Amino acid sequence: MQPSLIFATNNQHKAEEIQAFLNGKFEIISLRNAGIDVEIPEPYNTLEENADTKATTIFNLTQMDCFGEDTGLEVLSLNGEPGVKSARYAGESRNFKANIDKLLYKLKGKPEREARFRTVIALILGGKIYHFEGTCKGRILDAERGSGGFGYDPVFVPEGADLSFAEMTLEEKNKYSHRAKAVQKLIDFLLNK
Ligand code: IMP
Repeated sequence: MQPSLIFATNNQHKAEEIQAFLNGKFEIISLRNAGIDVEIPEPYNTLEENADTKATTIFNLTQMDCFGEDTGLEVLSLNGEPGVKSARYAGESRNFKANIDKLLYKLKGKPEREARFRTVIALILGGKIYHFEGTCKGRILDAERGSGGFGYDPVFVPEGADLSFAEMTLEEKNKYSHRAKAVQKLIDFLLNK
């Protein structure tokens, strides 16, 4: 039987990215398809704790196997900012454009543009919790490029590529992406159970 898991996110971009990566091999049930309408909090100072909270919130509601994830963009010359605060970098409105503007302003004139995305997945399987991490190194551009993706995609170019994430198709982004790497570890774990 094809294994299925609930993905504890309301972010449609993330759900689409993971579906494209799985290519039908696993069934991921989105919160929307599971009929769950809940705002999941992410109040903590680590990606791990936020990922745990997302998964635990949905597990407590459904008692079903599920996973949550939290992602941050860590910029070396900004001491790891915006990190766990990536979604709310420019304020509670969680505005992608305002977040990018703040990031570019802080990096203005700085030659050091090294950054990485880091994703932590928390899986709850049979009532136990497991963690998987994926990272993607790259650099921050001086200005936005491309109109695809979400979040900081228009200003991030992964190592080994010339295009920004926002200039790539989902399939291209998944060759490099932090989230795809963490999901691959999750799949390997499930297949070896
Ligand atoms: P969260 O995991 O939903 O808390 O995501 C934090 C924020 O990081 C999002 O609001 C986006 O701004 C950003 N983010 C997460 N994943 C990506 C990605 O794959 N590309 C670009 N930005 C991302």
